[in-house]
Amino acid sequence: MPRNGPKVTTGSVNFLAPPADPKETLFHYTNVELANGKDMKNYELARHTVQIENLRGKEQSVSLDTTGFQYFRLAASHKSFATDEEIKEEYYPESIELIKKLTGATKVVIFDHTIRRRDPGVADTSETRQPAAVVHGDQTTISSVARVHRHLPEPEAIEALKRRFQIINLWRPIAVPAYDWPLALCDYRSVKREQDTVPIKLIYPDFEGELLGVKYSPDYKWKYLDGMTPEEGVLIKCFDSIQDGSVAIFTPHTAFEDPATPQDAPYRRSIELRALVFYN
Ligand code: OGA
Ligand code: FE
Repeated sequence: MPRNGPKVTTGSVNFLAPPADPKETLFHYTNVELANGKDMKNYELARHTVQIENLRGKEQSVSLDTTGFQYFRLAASHKSFATDEEIKEEYYPESIELIKKLTGATKVVIFDHTIRRRDPGVADTSETRQPAAVVHGDQTTISSVARVHRHLPEPEAIEALKRRFQIINLWRPIAVPAYDWPLALCDYRSVKREQDTVPIKLIYPDFEGELLGVKYSPDYKWKYLDGMTPEEGVLIKCFDSIQDGSVAIFTPHTAFEDPATPQDAPYRRSIELRALVFYN
């Protein structure tokens, strides 16, 4: 059983510092080799202390369409998360079914996953991913549409883009409860998407993506779930093609060092899957 944690905790959280020239294109290299001696990124971060509400006992008060994220309780059958092959063979199929069940989607295509094992002694590299300690959205509209073209055959991609689609991450702790460096998520209704976000070019070895940098606002309403267990998870909406104001389009999120973490808590381990989610 999770402990009776605090109702609210505090996080010192990194936001995008607004660039001096608002027209400047922001970029971020995904590894040191690509940067080739240049700076990894051409923007600064700004730290702010924020209040983060613990939704333990109120898990049902959030949803993909209102806040932009949604908690669930269901253990995965796959438990080892030892190799990419195993994860693709065993964890992807059950996760596709889970996402369909939770959203009512008719087709789900998982295109990526990231395992994070916190270790204060190692650098954040593609082999040793650490918790992401900066507020962001994983996709922009441009990169979301590009993902559909990238992962579906062309005739199908064009058809799929005529209907509602989303990008959703499925995040869950591995093996131990995540009291250490939990994930804070921001209620979409407290975000002004145009005003608060700036696209950042994400430069991979073989292609360019785009993520959303998020500037600070005192209006944000931050939430987390204290001590999430491997039997729990959260769906994080990164994009929705419905953009008429009726539903959340995305959820800013960040890992944070929680001052209320028990002294003996093991380092956080987690997996996030990234999925294209279609509705007929
Ligand atoms: C994500 C994400 C950060 C983390 O799941 O999209 O940004 O630290 N996760 O788990
Ligand atoms: Fe993310």
